[in-house]
Amino acid sequence: MTTTNKGTDHGSANRRRPWAIEFYGSDVGKKWVMAITGIVFLGYVFVHMLGNLKLYLGTDPTGIYAIDHYGEWLRELLEPFLPREGLLWIFRVVLTASVVFHIHAAYSLTVTNWKARPVRYQSPREYLVANYASRTMRWSGVIVAAFILFHLMDLTFGNVNPDFVAGDVHANLVASFSRPAVAIFYIVANLLLGLHIFHGTWSLFQSIGWNNPRFNEWRRWFAWAFTAVIVVPNVSFPLTVLTGLVT
Ligand code: HEM
Repeated sequence: MTTTNKGTDHGSANRRRPWAIEFYGSDVGKKWVMAITGIVFLGYVFVHMLGNLKLYLGTDPTGIYAIDHYGEWLRELLEPFLPREGLLWIFRVVLTASVVFHIHAAYSLTVTNWKARPVRYQSPREYLVANYASRTMRWSGVIVAAFILFHLMDLTFGNVNPDFVAGDVHANLVASFSRPAVAIFYIVANLLLGLHIFHGTWSLFQSIGWNNPRFNEWRRWFAWAFTAVIVVPNVSFPLTVLTGLVT
C-alpha cells in the first residue's frame, strides 16, 4: 500500500509566509524598505559628517588630534558593557543590512517598472519628471556605492592609502586628500551623493505616504537644507587638505 502526504502538501501550499516576507514581496513594501533604509543612511551621513568636522579642531593640550581622540572614543563606546568596538559592530551590521536591502529593493522595483512599460502617467511632463528622477537615482546610486567601497579601502582598511596607519585618523585623511586625483574623486562623489540625498529625501516622503500637496513646499525646503548640511562640509574636507589649509 502506498501512502501519500497530499493533505500535508495542500496545507503547506496554503500556508501564508511570515508577514514581513509578504510585505517585502509587494511594491509598497519595497518602497517602505527603501524609505526606512534611506533614513538609516541619512542619519549615518549626518552623524559621520559631524564627527569629521573634528578635523578642524586641531590638537588638544596633550598634542592629540581631536579627530583621533574621537575615533578612539567611538571604539570604546559602552565599554565594558559591550566589548571594545561592540557598538561600532552593531552599527556596521545595521548599515550593511541596510545597503543590501536598499540595493535589492531598488533593483527589484526597477525590473518591475521596466516590465510594466509603457507606464501611463497623467501627463507627458509627469512622465519625464519621474523618469529623470529614477534614472538619476540609479546612476548616482551606483557611483555612490563605488565611492563607499573605495572609501573603506582608503580610510578603514587602508589598502589603497600607502601612508595609512590604523587609528591615526587625522594623518590618514591628510595623506589621502593630499593626492589630487583622490581629493577630486571625493569632491565629485560627494556632489553626486548630494544629488542622491536630494531626490531620496524628496521621494521618501512619497513612499511613506506624506505626499499631500500642502507639504510639498516644506518637503522641498527640507530636502535642500539636509543636502546642503551634508554636502558642504563633506566637500570642504578634501578641499581644505588639498589647498593646504589643513595639514
Ligand atoms: C569627505 C567626506 C568624508 C570623510 C572625510 C570621511 C572620513 C572617514 C574616516 C576618517 C573613516 C575611518 C574612521 C576610522 O575607522 O578611524 C571613515 C569611515 C567610514 N565612512 Fe566616511 N568619510 C566621508 C564621507 C563618507 C560618506 C559620504 C559615507 C557614506 C555614504 C561614508 C561612509 C563611511 C563608512 C561606512 C565608514 C566605515 C565606518 C566603520 O565601519 O568604522 N563616509 N570615513
